[in-house]
Amino acid sequence: MLELRPLRQEDVTAMAELEDLCFPEDPWPAHLLASALEGEGVVALGLWLEGRLDAMVLGRFILDEGELHSMATRPERRGEGLALRLLDAFILQARQAAVEHIWLEVRLGNVAAHRLYQRRGFVVEGRRPRYYDDGEDALVMALRLSR
Ligand SMILES: CC(C)(COP(=O)(O)OP(=O)(O)OC[C@H]1O[C@@H](n2cnc3c(N)ncnc32)[C@H](O)[C@@H]1OP(=O)(O)O)[C@@H](O)C(=O)NCCC(=O)NCCS
Repeated sequence: MLELRPLRQEDVTAMAELEDLCFPEDPWPAHLLASALEGEGVVALGLWLEGRLDAMVLGRFILDEGELHSMATRPERRGEGLALRLLDAFILQARQAAVEHIWLEVRLGNVAAHRLYQRRGFVVEGRRPRYYDDGEDALVMALRLSR
């Protein structure tokens, strides 16, 4: 059965493995993931199946602003709604923390991610030219949470 739970320091190896699979161009290494988990207001959730990390979401809440930094689903588990489930959990936690907006940046060419975020009401608020190291633009998307 799928288990959704917060990610902790002992999960860093599994997180780094998922990063390698999902962001082969620029994965976050284990030491960066470990320090990210210690950051102020960090929200890190994982979906586990029989001890294997299949999907994760990383972000943080600072006062009434939320940032969604990354979402990833293991390639062979894509299209099953895992990312939507994690996104819903992230948004629920944001509401509970009285967050008013969730912001994110996403690669211009990442259509799957655009659709995922649009499914939950994120809208495009801007564009950052050459935001990524390889020169690709980022779209800035935001979700306004009603009180
Ligand atoms: C983006 C990603 C997290 C989606 O994960 P997923 O678990 O497959 O997503 P879900 O099954 O929950 O799909 C939810 C919605 O996202 C959209 N979506 C997901 N994959 C899609 C694809 N390949 N093409 C178009 N839309 C897609 C759809 O709207 C889908 O809902 P629907 O099927 O009911 O229309 C996954 O493809 C991934 O890990 N990609 C590599 C890392 C990445 O780019 N992360 C996002 C930027 S940080």
